[in-house]
Formats: sequence, C-alpha cells, structure tokens
Amino acid sequence: MKNNVNIQRRKLLKFAGVSVAALATFPGLINAKMMRVGSHASLDFIPDIEISLTGEVKNVSIFKGPKTHVWKVVGKVLKGDKNAITNEESYLAPTIRLHKGQKVRIYLKNELPSSTILHWHGLHVPSKMDGNPMYAIDNGETFVYEFEILNRAGTYWYHAHTHSLTAKHVYSGLAGFFIVSDDEEQALELPRGEFDIPLVIQDRNFDQQNQLQYDGGRMMKMHGFLGQQILVNGTPEFELSVSTRAYRLRLLNGSNSRIYKLAWDDGTPFKVIGTDGGLLERPETLDYITLAPAERREIWVDLSDKKVGSEITLRSLEFSSGGMGMMGGMGGGRGGMGGGQSHAGEDFAVLKVRVSKKTSSRDVLPKRLSTIKALRLADAANPQSPRRITLSMRHMSALLNGRSYKMNDIRKDEIVPVNTLQLMEFDNGYHGMGGGMMGMPHPMHLHGEQFQVVKRQVRNKSGKGYSSVSEGFLDKGWKDTVLVMPGETVTILKPFNGYTGIFMYHCHNLEHEDMGMMRDLLVK
Ligand code: C2O
Ligand code: CU
Ligand code: CU
Repeated sequence: MKNNVNIQRRKLLKFAGVSVAALATFPGLINAKMMRVGSHASLDFIPDIEISLTGEVKNVSIFKGPKTHVWKVVGKVLKGDKNAITNEESYLAPTIRLHKGQKVRIYLKNELPSSTILHWHGLHVPSKMDGNPMYAIDNGETFVYEFEILNRAGTYWYHAHTHSLTAKHVYSGLAGFFIVSDDEEQALELPRGEFDIPLVIQDRNFDQQNQLQYDGGRMMKMHGFLGQQILVNGTPEFELSVSTRAYRLRLLNGSNSRIYKLAWDDGTPFKVIGTDGGLLERPETLDYITLAPAERREIWVDLSDKKVGSEITLRSLEFSSGGMGMMGGMGGGRGGMGGGQSHAGEDFAVLKVRVSKKTSSRDVLPKRLSTIKALRLADAANPQSPRRITLSMRHMSALLNGRSYKMNDIRKDEIVPVNTLQLMEFDNGYHGMGGGMMGMPHPMHLHGEQFQVVKRQVRNKSGKGYSSVSEGFLDKGWKDTVLVMPGETVTILKPFNGYTGIFMYHCHNLEHEDMGMMRDLLVK
C-alpha cells in the first residue's frame, strides 16, 4: 500500500517534467497545476471523442516465416464515433480520423519496456499536450491528452518523441496517421472512402529471422539510418489494386532519414493537391516529388484511361544528397525490391499500382481546392531581422545555432512573444567542420502552428545536391517541415498564436534529432 502511494507520487511528479531532485531543492516548484499535467482527465473538458492508445510489444507478420517483434500502438474508441480509429494489421499505429472542431481525449498507456511519449505532428495543440520529451511516461503509466482539433483538413501524423530515443522508437513502429477533415474539404468532389488512401513510406533492415535491425553506429548516426527494405503501410512489395477512376493518395515519408524523389515509371506527372498542412489553393503539376522525412504530399491520380491489367510503379529516382553524401552500404539487411539499395539517392521501386477493375466513374479534379491566406512580411514582428537558425554537424553532434538539445535550456533568442508572426531562416551554409564536406540535407520541422515558406536562397545552384531535387520541392500552402539542402537558406513566416509554453524545433532526420539537432522555443 505504502509503495503504491510512493509510485503515485513519483508518477505525478514525472508529469510535471521536473525531476524529483530539482523539487527537493526547490520545493516551491510543486504546485497543484504542475502536478496535474497529463496525469488525469480534467472535469471542465468535455470530449466529443475519447480514445485509448496502448503501446505494447507485439509480433506481426511482415514476411513469410517468423513474425517480427515490433512496438505497436493499439487503439480503442472509448466514447464517440467508432470510426475515429482504424487499427492496422501491420506494425503501424492506428489511423486516427477526426473533424476540425472536435474535442478529443486520448489516454496513452505505456506497456513498453521503455519510457515514451507521443507527439501529434503538424497539429496545433497546447504545449502540455504536444508530446514534448519532458512528458515521457514510464512503463505502466498513463498520460492523458486533451485538445481540440484546430487544424484545417489535412494529413497529419503522430509518433514517439522520446528524448534521445525517437529514432529507435519510430523505427520499432511507434507512428501512425492522424487525418483531419473539415467542412470546406468535405464539400469538394474529391475521392473519398476506399478511394482516399493514406500511404506511409518507410525503410527498414531485417535479419534472417525477420527481426528489425537497427545499427546504432557512429557513421549511421551522422548520415541517418538508411534501410534496404522499403515498406509502404508496413508492407514490403506493396501493391495497390485499383479501379479505372480517380484516387486521392496521401503520401507520408515516415522514414527516419531517407529522402525520396518520387516519380511514376511511365513518366506521368503528378497532380499535387495538398502538402503538410492540407489542400493547396489549386492543383500543382510536378514531374517528381521530393519528399523529406515527415513531409506529406497529397496527389490526385486519374486511372480512368488505364486498361484493366496494366500496372504503374511509383519509384524513387536517383539524386545526389550533396556534400559528402552517403558513402558505404549499411550491410546486413535483406535486400528487398531487387535488393541492395543502401545509399541515399538510389533508384528503386516504392510501390506498384495494378489496375484490376473497370468502372465508369468520371472524376474531375476541382480547379480550385481551397483559399489560403498568404502570410505577409509586413505583419511579421521582425520583418528586417529574421530569427536565424544555423544548421551544422560536428563530431557526433548535430547542432542548431551551435547548440545541442537540452531539457530546460531556453536561451534568450529562443523566447517568442505569443500571438506574433515571426520571420525565421534556416541556414544550411556549411557551418561546422570541413566546410562543404559535412554538408547534409536537413528537413527542418517546427511544432505548433503550420508555417509558410517565403523563399529559398542557394549558394550554388548548380551544386549537385540542390539541382537534383529542387524541381520536386513544393513550397506553397501550409507546411510544418521543410527540406533545407546543403548550401541553402530557407526563409519562413511562422505564426505563434494562441498557446504559450514550450514548442520544439528540430531536424526531422531522426538520427540527427537524437544527436541533439533539436531545441525548445518558449512562447510567452
Ligand atoms: Cu514529427 Cu517533433 O516531430
Ligand atoms: Cu512535430
Ligand atoms: Cu538533420
């Protein structure tokens, strides 16, 4: 009994993100409000929907033969619309589907052999509901999230965000889709239901027993993990069986660090209808899509002219990742998709679309999809002096403005006044050792509200890395992650409305993130 009380107390303290030692030194830090963060449901929050998500160790069938041990999130709707959650057969976390304006309460139960926490990538939620690593819970503990969906319709996702373990946790399976709909989107004639398909692309390595392999070596960390087996929705050699009609495909790069240069093998250009933060104003035509970790693109694919029995393959084309690039294979893994791709920027198949049914549906892609209010430089709090974030790599560390991640370490330039629009710039101009030698692409992500890209400046436009992927960038619409190639400076306008507290910014190459390429912003 006594033991129980202690555990209870420790639990509560844990939620406040303050160590017991710190509390002993500063007893004044203990106050009722802090102790309550995430530890139980609040009385004044009336959810439309209540969900439980449990992280557990499971065995799933990925290949013939032995099952694969994965870390899986299992979901259940406790109250409200049962369709809000679809449990996936693969290692993926359940797909969550909610509507703008809905209030959700999520009980995260940790039954994993590690502390962990989930973050809602791209969603604008209160700081304490954002899954900051300081809120990680231990095995046996529960974290209660409560928030309203403020985001517009879009393809968001969620994943583990545990201090120094994010890469490993996501790799083990802790990630899933979080799809938001809204009235504006529902009023459009876009493919729905079974014709609206979320597709997450990931790369992994497996051993002969079909078990996940994760090499935590030094070189791997610097470059990021690259797996030899491509999986789509947790499935190797993924095939989509379709009818002769239009589809809405929602592509998510859920890989730790691999960048994809996606194209159809028959040369058909893409009609891109959405990005990270939902629909674009109007469809954009692109020959290929550069998709960095955490980024999303929604495409409208018209298969009505195809013959039954025909196939098209989505490939990732060759490109140069710039700078020193990715040298050396990962070794070990089991070669999928013809085997052996191990470098960034190699050519390989991602998924196959097989036309198997004739339908007579005539689908027309709407010319106008949405209205996006362009953020204006004149409205920024700092139109003349962007907040500059330099990206650099050193021996075994990846840095933002020369700093490594540390909890409770907000610096002066990391404090942002609430309800302001900020001009920010990510500078990947070869800071750190060896000049261009260590130039690496960094997909930069900010928590909180979505932002807009203002401009890209390139030191060397003919630089191989940049020119081999730049036609695949899509900087329109709302974004939460933007790829910054070596030698590039990307300027954004980022709103900080509504919520005060800590919101992170980091590289979404998860190995870089865990190596320290992550910091907190304090909005106040
Ligand atoms: Cu998807 Cu802090 O990240
Ligand atoms: Cu995020
Ligand atoms: Cu990075």
